[in-house]
Amino acid sequence: MGLNGPLPQTMFDPKGPVAKMQGELLTMTMWLAVGIFVVVGGILLYILFRFRERPGQGLPKQVHGSHVLEVLWTIVPILILTIVAVPTVRTAFATAEPPTRDVLNVRVVANQWWWAFEYPGEGVVTANELHIPVDKPVSLTLESNDVIHSFWVPKLAGKTDVIPGRVNKMWFQAAEPGEYYGQCAELCGPSHAKMKFRVIAQSPADYENWVKTRKNPVGTAQLSGLAKQGWDTFNQKGCVACHTIDGTAEAKGKVGPNLTGVATRTMIAAGELPNTDENLRKWLANPQAIKPATKMPNLGLSEDEIKSLIAFLRTQK
Ligand code: CUA
Repeated sequence: MGLNGPLPQTMFDPKGPVAKMQGELLTMTMWLAVGIFVVVGGILLYILFRFRERPGQGLPKQVHGSHVLEVLWTIVPILILTIVAVPTVRTAFATAEPPTRDVLNVRVVANQWWWAFEYPGEGVVTANELHIPVDKPVSLTLESNDVIHSFWVPKLAGKTDVIPGRVNKMWFQAAEPGEYYGQCAELCGPSHAKMKFRVIAQSPADYENWVKTRKNPVGTAQLSGLAKQGWDTFNQKGCVACHTIDGTAEAKGKVGPNLTGVATRTMIAAGELPNTDENLRKWLANPQAIKPATKMPNLGLSEDEIKSLIAFLRTQK
């Protein structure tokens, strides 16, 4: 099955070592539980049938206590729990701390309802689409700007809660290039279900190119025509107060997603809509209609202003 097959967010199709370890633990525990269910249910059914009341039958022999049974139902659960505990503890330790050498560090900041991704080593900031190289451990620190969120990319790793006032850690590694779908997994307000993101795993060369492009932002010096008008609108309407665009002196806001290179993103509005002109138009015209309670205001933009903004955003590659 491809990465974007019918089940893009299944944890039963692990694509990296962390997800694999966690998936194996889950599968083992599940089958063990199924086995216990079948045995217990089978014994219960047998007893119900074998010892049912029959006509003319008096009280059966009364039994009080059985050492054999008591020893058995103490020892068997101990054995079962031991079987579960050993791989659980092993997996917990193996997935708790990222490898110490040759890791990519990323600071994840959760916001209602989008994700900021900062690469301290690279000096790059992006939003909602986390680019990583394949076969390299990615060590994440997770922080929240508002409420409790949960960071989850099912094919790469289990959930980690993102809690205001603390820094949680997790790591994962992608085994093959592709887009891995992620999703906030903790109810965090009206647009919780729309707090999506993608992990875009690339070959090391493609990833290096991406970093290089991000570090040399297009900026706004070369703009002309409609795009130039759009940049003026971006300033006049106050977009600059909430959004950062690297390579500009004006756009330095931190309230909303960093829009550097927004034209190259696959999605807009935190994974909600494909990054097309038509969707961008809908989003700019009425953000709340797409994402209830989003902090992106409805600026009452005219069609011409929207057109110019789209033209401007398309230049940010
Ligand atoms: Cu953030 Cu749900």
